[in-house]
Amino acid sequence: MTETIAQPHSPWSKSTWYQAKPEARQPNVIDFKNVTKTYLKGTPKEFTAIRDVDFHVEDIVGKGEFICLLGPSGCGKSTVLKLIAGLTPQFPATEGEVLVFGDEVVGPGADRGMVFQEYTAFDNRTVLDNIAFGLECRGMPRRERYDLVRTWIEKVGLNVTKDQYKYPHQLSGGMRQRVAIARSLVLKPRIILMDEPFGALDPLTRLRMQDLLIHLWKEVQATVFFVTHSISEAVYLGDRILVFSNSPGTILLEERVPPPDRPAMEMQREAEFNDVVCYIRDYIADLESKGSKKEQTP
Ligand SMILES: Nc1ncnc2c1ncn2[C@@H]1O[C@H](COP(=O)(O)OP(=O)(O)OP(=O)(O)O)[C@@H](O)[C@H]1O
Ligand SMILES: [Mg+2]
Repeated sequence: MTETIAQPHSPWSKSTWYQAKPEARQPNVIDFKNVTKTYLKGTPKEFTAIRDVDFHVEDIVGKGEFICLLGPSGCGKSTVLKLIAGLTPQFPATEGEVLVFGDEVVGPGADRGMVFQEYTAFDNRTVLDNIAFGLECRGMPRRERYDLVRTWIEKVGLNVTKDQYKYPHQLSGGMRQRVAIARSLVLKPRIILMDEPFGALDPLTRLRMQDLLIHLWKEVQATVFFVTHSISEAVYLGDRILVFSNSPGTILLEERVPPPDRPAMEMQREAEFNDVVCYIRDYIADLESKGSKKEQTP
């Protein structure tokens, strides 16, 4: 079960910049119902990565929700994302149900796009052909797909003239992640799964990528699941933050945070923003020092 913890002293609970969530309609975008994943079940190497994870994402009219997953290394964040993506060996769950738009996940689908933790690109394809890959698989004619891809090259802040014929080894980490984002978003998925996409970037590039992502997310209106180790990144980007415990991962804290309505560099230096970051950080530290919530409450 989702362990939602009351936050009586939440620093922004009465703040004017907190937006109540708009009215929702059915079915939910995601239902994660008491999901447990045990790898290599029945073997001596059996390992339970997540246990009883339960959360729900409503379909908010005209706007997808931005959900950030925080938690220590190895707690099962990538496992959660890949269960939604329908990718093996994370998929299928050992117990529980994963539903997307009310239907059980049976494998990957065009409604879900993934940006992986590792930089992933086809080494033998140019920027243009990497981003065009999914459209090519869908059978979009060459001219049409290249025209569309060129608009996305610009949208993610690359330069068509300079960059379209470059190969992945000719790109910086930030440029590769721009390509990965474009390759996913060009397909207009309803759900975008992003696994620590900015983890390896320098701090300034990271802030710029956060701004870019928010800008594109508003355009595509998708639901985003975003894994990060950075509390400030989660507080900036997220509408909601799910904090996972050590493995087997369970949800320790589910928290709504204010939306990013100003540039990352501006908002993240404000005292009010940093109060929120410190609140979440102290909360996690407190939970870790006391053990899981189940142990805290009788
Ligand atoms: N295919 C697999 N077979 C066996 N164990 C696995 C497999 N994939 C992941 N695990 C284990 O499950 C646990 C959770 O892995 P996962 O990759 O989901 O963690 P994570 O929270 O994404 O970690 P990180 O922050 O380091 O990326 C880890 O202990 C990992 O070793
Ligand atoms: Mg991971």
